[in-house]
Amino acid sequence: MAEASGENFGASGGALGNLGVNRCVEPFTLVILGASGDLTRRKLLPAVYNLALDGLLPENYVVMGFARREYDDAKFRSIAREGIEKYSRRPIDERVWPQFEKSIFYSRGSFDDPAAYEALRKRLEEVEKERGVTGNRIFYLSVPPSAIRECVTHLRNAGFTRKNADARPFSRVIIEKPIGHDLASATEINDCVAEVFDEREVFRIDHYLGKETVQSILVLRFSNSIFEPLWNQKYIDHVQITVSEEEGVGTRAGYYEEAGALRDMVQNHILQLLCLTAMEPPWSLDAEVVRDHKMGVLNCLRPLTGRDVDRDVVRAQYGPGLENGEQVPGYRREERVRPDSTTETYVAIRAYVDNWRWSGVPFYLRTGRRLPKRASEIAIHFKGVPPVLFNADCAVEGNVLTLRIQPDEGLSLRIATKRPGPQERIEPVVMDFKYGSAFADQSPEAYERLLLDVAEGDATLFMRRDAVEASWKWVTGILDGWHTSGARWLPEYSAGTWGPIEADRLIAGEGRRWREV
Ligand code: BG6
Repeated sequence: MAEASGENFGASGGALGNLGVNRCVEPFTLVILGASGDLTRRKLLPAVYNLALDGLLPENYVVMGFARREYDDAKFRSIAREGIEKYSRRPIDERVWPQFEKSIFYSRGSFDDPAAYEALRKRLEEVEKERGVTGNRIFYLSVPPSAIRECVTHLRNAGFTRKNADARPFSRVIIEKPIGHDLASATEINDCVAEVFDEREVFRIDHYLGKETVQSILVLRFSNSIFEPLWNQKYIDHVQITVSEEEGVGTRAGYYEEAGALRDMVQNHILQLLCLTAMEPPWSLDAEVVRDHKMGVLNCLRPLTGRDVDRDVVRAQYGPGLENGEQVPGYRREERVRPDSTTETYVAIRAYVDNWRWSGVPFYLRTGRRLPKRASEIAIHFKGVPPVLFNADCAVEGNVLTLRIQPDEGLSLRIATKRPGPQERIEPVVMDFKYGSAFADQSPEAYERLLLDVAEGDATLFMRRDAVEASWKWVTGILDGWHTSGARWLPEYSAGTWGPIEADRLIAGEGRRWREV
């Protein structure tokens, strides 16, 4: 397929989602519960550092780590430095580091020990006074779901919470996924959090929502006049949403065995992409309005239960195969995976949004590990033109608009054109826009944007309680269907391939095929 130059489809205006515009952040303390974990080193501290580097933090701020490990401030600062050296999108700037380092502290304690929260409070009061922070606090729960309840209860008992979103200084909480493992457990966690925090003080992270390219879905749809008139069942044949990962389960088998691809990727990231693709135009960018409109999609998602699950959902596990030329083991042979595990590492779903706009349009969703490459994208497949003129033999392929979330962020449009020459030969070409070449600015990491939004109290990019529960409700229907069918083994696909044959059949039955990503 020919590829047209990106230039004429490239962007010429300002950057999307410019972090520097209109940001106004009060001094605050970020308290990370579970600060000795991987997330802190890999994502949170590098995010705070990059915000500092861009001058987006207030002059006075504190980062306080809280965990059981025997660290002190100096040790935690050296861990922060190592993490930032390794994972930050920009190297350490020695002119900024000494100042940055001075805002990092550590308080040792166990999540279940009331005395540790008392000690934390005293330590916070001390360092906040020293650093000129007025008591605004953000509690980041980087803890397993089973510890959320305990942590928020202790936070309340130690007098850290107010349950009043308008109170100053503020007290906010960030909760990481997974929030539960099904509808009942998610509701239980949310109930417990609601006893301690007002919903407007709660920020549930789905880090996909912090990605620049995910934010730009709404910009693409609602700041261009050419797409929206076509964005419905009259013109769209189907939609494919793919989130593929190259890596196997790696060191996360303990978690993954209990989660699987459906809980790990579909319940949150993929359903959020679906919501942004399918939602009605919100009438404002206010957090509640945007989140109401996303709920509108979840409310119309056709439930998949009982036999529908066998018909519309394919699950599978990777077997041995080749990944980048190297032989890799199958899932059941991975360390800490049960040899008879039925945890899915791949899932493909045919979903429908039963409303006026999307009636009859299938949304094919797929995600998996050990696929040929890491890629996330949304592909809108438009209906073909009538079979007359150039399409008399039905050979002209329909237009496809592809939103590449990562890597190689950008978007492309496949259109039909005449191949130069005396014959009437129609060929598809792709007009391609790449963020990397259109904009000089490097995109911030998702966590940068999300942390800044919490500090500002903007919940637009966070999951509201009703959305978390609606997503779990839909996913729990599928889990129950699987439970009832009680499979003792799952179809296998070779590592390094695009999934099982059953997934090809799911889509081929309707005369369609998965895209080559
Ligand atoms: C996480 C999942 O939420 O998202 C991981 O738990 C997955 O299993 C990760 O690898 C993917 O995130 P990203 O940003 O690398 O696409």
